Amino acid sequence: MEAFSQLVQRAEQAFGQARTPAELEDAKARFLGKAGELTARMKELSSLSVDEKKARGAEINAAKQEVEGLLAARRQALADAELTRQLQAESLDVSLPGRRRGSGGLHPITRAMERIESIFGSMGFDVADGPEIETDWYSFTALNNPENHPARSMQDTFYVDLNDAEGRPLNLRPHTSPMQIRYAQAHARRYAGAATMPEIRVIAPGRTYRVDSDATHSPMFHQVEGLWVGESISFKDLKAVYLRFIRAFFETDDLQIRFRPSYFPFTEPSAEIDMMFGSGPLKGRWLEVSGSGQVHPQVIRNMGLDPERYIGFAFGSGIDRLAMLRYGVGDLRLFFDGDLRFLTQFK
Ligand code: PHE
Repeated sequence: MEAFSQLVQRAEQAFGQARTPAELEDAKARFLGKAGELTARMKELSSLSVDEKKARGAEINAAKQEVEGLLAARRQALADAELTRQLQAESLDVSLPGRRRGSGGLHPITRAMERIESIFGSMGFDVADGPEIETDWYSFTALNNPENHPARSMQDTFYVDLNDAEGRPLNLRPHTSPMQIRYAQAHARRYAGAATMPEIRVIAPGRTYRVDSDATHSPMFHQVEGLWVGESISFKDLKAVYLRFIRAFFETDDLQIRFRPSYFPFTEPSAEIDMMFGSGPLKGRWLEVSGSGQVHPQVIRNMGLDPERYIGFAFGSGIDRLAMLRYGVGDLRLFFDGDLRFLTQFK
């Protein structure tokens, strides 16, 4: 008969060949189950004498314990292998670089506007905001540009299919100049009863609209209005403020401005402001950057102020033009096409 040690060896081999818990259970049944080999050996005991039973019984028990030990070890080994497999499947490589979220950036026009606001802010100017859909009075009449006046055709205005309280069609403001009136009126009202009124010093940047479209004109564009009204504000203040602004904006003192006589209904005298770089690719070329002038007495009156007492200057500059010059952009339309290849360069 086969020695118990051999039986134990076969069991070990069978357990070792089991690749899964189910296979292991099958192998177990062959040795330890009801119809298993060890059980069969037990059954043989009945035909033996008492002494032989004792000796053989002890051998069987020892073999059974060994087989059970081997089974438990193999179970544990399979469970460990399964755990390792799972851990490897779910493992994270913490040395991999993370996935970044795309980061946004400010639009170049917004950047230019923020620069303008901070420069004028440093010179004591308030920043005001106003409606883009305007009444006829604020866009034109209050600015000394009455109905049927030929100067209205300087601005090819978009009209809205809605009338204001006076029955005149609303317009998409063709310039930021209505903000001169709105801001000054509010200021005048605030100090109506007071003995003295602080000076008005404000800029109003924002969107403006005209029927115009080519490489340097867009139907929607941006202006910044400036207004300084007090009891003794003159053209020399305008020149000083504007020169300081434009030098700060372009971050160079190697830059000049000149005033060229012009006409606007709301300023008298009026001037275009041109600037010229002293170096760089645009060196020596005069570039028009702003309309300006001394606020017309009738406009002062329309603000609710006394033109015998108050005087000041106003200017209106094209922000897109300034941004094109600052960033070296040749075609204005690039700003508004929404092409990320262009826009992400300004991040
Ligand atoms: N509003 C004028 C324009 O759009 C510019 C301007 C503003 C001129 C203020 C004089 C004073 O062309």
